Amino acid sequence: MEKGGGKGGPPPANGLVVVVGGGIAGLGAAQRLCRNLGFRNLRLLEASDRCGGRVCSQPAFGGLVDIGAHWIHGPSKNNPVFQLALEYGLLGEKEMSEENQLIEVGGHPGLPSLSLSSSGKNVNLKLVEDVSNLFYTLLDQTREFLHMAETPVPSVGEYLKKELAQLMADWTEDEATKSLKLSILNTFFNLECCVSGCHSMDLVALGSFGEYAMLPGLDCTFSEGYEGLTNCIMTSLPKNVIQFNKPVKIIHWNGSYTQEKFPGVKFPVLVECEGGEQFPANHVIVTMSLGVLKEQLTTLFDPPLPHSKAEVIKRMGFGTNNKIFVEFEEPFWEADCQQIQVVWEDSSPFVDDKSELENIWFKKLIGFLVLPPFESSYVLCGFIAGLESEYMETLSDEELISSLTQVFRRITGNPQLSGPRSILRSKWHSAPYTRGSYSYVAVGSSGEDIDLLAQPLPEDSSAPQLQILFAGEATHRTYYSTTHGALLSGWREADRLINLYDSEAQQQKLKP
Ligand SMILES: Cc1cc2nc3c(=O)[nH]c(=O)nc-3n(C[C@H](O)[C@H](O)[C@H](O)COP(=O)(O)OP(=O)(O)OC[C@H]3O[C@@H](n4cnc5c(N)ncnc54)[C@H](O)[C@@H]3O)c2cc1C
Ligand SMILES: *[C@@H]1O[C@H](CO)[C@@H](O)[C@H](O)[C@H]1NC(C)=O
Repeated sequence: MEKGGGKGGPPPANGLVVVVGGGIAGLGAAQRLCRNLGFRNLRLLEASDRCGGRVCSQPAFGGLVDIGAHWIHGPSKNNPVFQLALEYGLLGEKEMSEENQLIEVGGHPGLPSLSLSSSGKNVNLKLVEDVSNLFYTLLDQTREFLHMAETPVPSVGEYLKKELAQLMADWTEDEATKSLKLSILNTFFNLECCVSGCHSMDLVALGSFGEYAMLPGLDCTFSEGYEGLTNCIMTSLPKNVIQFNKPVKIIHWNGSYTQEKFPGVKFPVLVECEGGEQFPANHVIVTMSLGVLKEQLTTLFDPPLPHSKAEVIKRMGFGTNNKIFVEFEEPFWEADCQQIQVVWEDSSPFVDDKSELENIWFKKLIGFLVLPPFESSYVLCGFIAGLESEYMETLSDEELISSLTQVFRRITGNPQLSGPRSILRSKWHSAPYTRGSYSYVAVGSSGEDIDLLAQPLPEDSSAPQLQILFAGEATHRTYYSTTHGALLSGWREADRLINLYDSEAQQQKLKP
């Protein structure tokens, strides 16, 4: 064995790496690689003019709002987003407290402080609590089907409805109360659509629903905006690593490309941007959303992805959840109110309203979070998922304000209520570099597909290794759809490259 020390030559040249996408996964991968001296030749190509991706804080209402990621889910010691936020000093006293980290909520959002019906009545909060307990008991039961070869029904939605139908036979209340309970349940179904980022829980696979893992800790937010976190990672990278306004159009791989700067060296990958700019590479880490991968499946890779990989991308679920921020001059809620639930009377999880979206889209709104007061206004944050949410993106601000004014007048029972002063909403489905909100395990897919998506290319060992690596929220088997899942996936792929060169160096040393 050769002794390594003595000469002190340059660090091993670990090839050219291109990271596609400057969301938290891409930034995390780049930061990890930069901290390893071997990866001096690193580029991160970001399509837009900013980093953060679905972590996105925007100035509004005289302050800042997050139109993408909202909470650190499970802020405790095993959550890498929480750890980074601590490291960068971005959290408040309460969020950092040991007490906060120990709270277990099982992933269930808290109860509303106020529940309003479409006819302007206050819904009894005890009834809401009973319905909530029922809903989450059934939802937790879905874990029983984890890793089962066969499930009684394909989807979470069908399972919930099947169980409900049985339980309802024993409901003893009067008809009006039974009907109200179904309407409240409908709001919980719609809330779960927001959590899963899907149009309907009938699309979410029952067998894999339990794979999603929860961390302890009471979900917390960034008072100065989530993007503070991605900005800190961004500024930790050496200058010139990140190149903005570089939408990647085609990833050529399994080829042999050259670059002036490295005469005589062949690179298996060539990353081509819109406009024609080209970046040769040994390795490319792809972090664009599953929505973008689905949309560009047939054009993004040359040669095309292997059939099995392409099928996985088609099978996996990716839907829409949007936020609508609504600014009021005066609040119609009490000062201690934190969450307002909206219940549409006569709605039910068992009935699918087939009316035109134009007339019913707003019934998919689950309600509003009350944001901490701004300097001179009061702001609510509404959530809406699915096709109704995608339809909402197409409305003008005026149309949206007008529809919402009607909704607020109905639920407050005050036909004179002043409408919102202004609104701000996300449009994640139309966003060209996102094409939706986050992934879910769709019927026909499974947790295994997530691991398959994460497998690097090429599949065999005859060609240069690790040409295309896959990171991003949708590639994390147990934390998909979250910022911590995205960050961990970026680290995972950075480590895969680091290990490749470490083991090559080891093998060099072992040569006689
Ligand atoms: C409304 C909403 C609420 C959410 N709430 C939470 C929450 O409370 N807690 C939580 O943990 N998670 C939440 N999430 C999910 C979380 O935001 C994401 O899981 C995470 O930010 C994804 O990071 P990523 O790096 O995988 O992808 P992205 O952030 O999408 O990053 C991908 C990057 O690639 C770029 N890109 C795309 N195409 C190209 C191309 N062709 N060439 C070059 N660059 C390209 C994009 O511009 C983007 O910057 C929420 C998401 C949404 C939409
Ligand atoms: C990669 O190139 C090799 C050698 O030219 C070829 O045999 C193989 O089929 C190619 N793989 C793909 C996925 O195109």
